[in-house]
Amino acid sequence: MASEMNCDNLGVMPRKVLDKLIEQAEGSLRLVEALGVRELSREAVEPGYRRKSELLRKLQEEIGDCQRCQLSQSRKLVVFGEGDPESEVFLVGEAPGESEDETGRPFVGAAGRILTDIIERGMKLKRSRVFIANVVKCRPPKNRDPEPSEVDACRGFLEKQLKIVNPRVIIALGKIATQCLLKTTESITHLRGMWSEFLGIPVMPTYHPAYLLHNPSGKRELWSDIKKVLALLAEERK
Ligand code: URA
Repeated sequence: MASEMNCDNLGVMPRKVLDKLIEQAEGSLRLVEALGVRELSREAVEPGYRRKSELLRKLQEEIGDCQRCQLSQSRKLVVFGEGDPESEVFLVGEAPGESEDETGRPFVGAAGRILTDIIERGMKLKRSRVFIANVVKCRPPKNRDPEPSEVDACRGFLEKQLKIVNPRVIIALGKIATQCLLKTTESITHLRGMWSEFLGIPVMPTYHPAYLLHNPSGKRELWSDIKKVLALLAEERK
């Protein structure tokens, strides 16, 4: 009987059969509850989510206590990235700053507060439901731009993260992320707002949230870029 059941024929299922199924499901839930489970994690119920979480965990292990470039000498923590492994949206920043280096989490300082606002108030998504990572996983001294050799040492990890998550859209935040993904030296002012592609995934370059701290007038352009992302996501859901 289970093989005959899908969402399409629920409406025509005989009442008695449906009641029996509901009774069985309630029995199973009571049993699970009696075993002390109060909440089912997505890892437990979604195989795709579980597989991607596991691949990301393995990648984080592979990075480990990375010593592949000179940033390892001054950083405190490697900032791997965080978020929903099945997210439709992957945001790529530049490099951890001081707060990120202290906590091991991306975008938790002043720029992070702006980014969280963009995601939650602008895009109406929970921050935990997108994925956020940086081009380089370790803080450059005094927050200088990462050097090309440091970007090259870390590039493969970002690529692997993107392949695992396989989002519908990538948002490249600022010059370093955009130039790294698009392999260009063109300025962000020229590239922002125009669709490109990386690994076959649409990329929308926009300003880095830190830029808005000193240039609030950039908000309007950033928002117009984000609206293009929202339009693409809405289009693909149709
Ligand atoms: N800026 C970035 O590019 N990434 C962070 O994680 C924090 C600030």
